[in-house]
Amino acid sequence: MAELTATLTEVVLIDGERAGVLDLNPALWPAAGQYLPAQRSGTGAGALPVHLFRIGKTITQLTVGPLPAGWFPGDRLALLRPHGKGFELPFSARRIGLCALDAPPGRLLPLTGPALAQDAAVTLFCDPQPSPDILRQLPSAVEVAPLAGLSADLGWPDYLAVDLPRESLPRLVEILGDEKLPFAGQVLVRTAMPCRGLGECGVCAVETRGGLRLACVDGPVFPLQEVVHVAG
Ligand code: FES
Repeated sequence: MAELTATLTEVVLIDGERAGVLDLNPALWPAAGQYLPAQRSGTGAGALPVHLFRIGKTITQLTVGPLPAGWFPGDRLALLRPHGKGFELPFSARRIGLCALDAPPGRLLPLTGPALAQDAAVTLFCDPQPSPDILRQLPSAVEVAPLAGLSADLGWPDYLAVDLPRESLPRLVEILGDEKLPFAGQVLVRTAMPCRGLGECGVCAVETRGGLRLACVDGPVFPLQEVVHVAG
């Protein structure tokens, strides 16, 4: 399946998940929320690819994860170009919420730099509070609050970026309530994607206002309003 190859130069643990640094040309880096289908070179042709998401806030190197247990520094990876739709911060947003639900917040950290660069106030909402790995990567200007803080003040954000596994969509409704939301947002809906973006198997289907959509091609980042009230 290889279109690209890259070497895994370093393996790190971020919030308990293995992540790796890739020596990939920056022009080919995935945006936050996009994914790279990847296999370790030499893996059998029938092996399913792993989907690697950008993790962390570093802009000088590409850190991706989660990494399978058997991948180590020096491994060559066969990759496809970035797949799917990623997050797009509205340039006019001045109060940006990042919400990690039933997930470590690493996949949202690439948004912190661009958000601060447009002079937005940024708050990371998550439970439990971030691990020391994450706190070390968080710019000091980013506030951290529990999920209850978001529920209690839905008037604060003017844009909300969420990361969750598909099965947690109903919990998002519990947090955001069932009224029309006063802000825009996007949700990274993570699910198994066995046919790696070919849109053939249907395993990655997500229920939206417009009917079933495929996370591998229509997402994995969806407009918040498309998925939140459907999930209830
Ligand atoms: S992964 Fe097969 S349709 Fe999406």
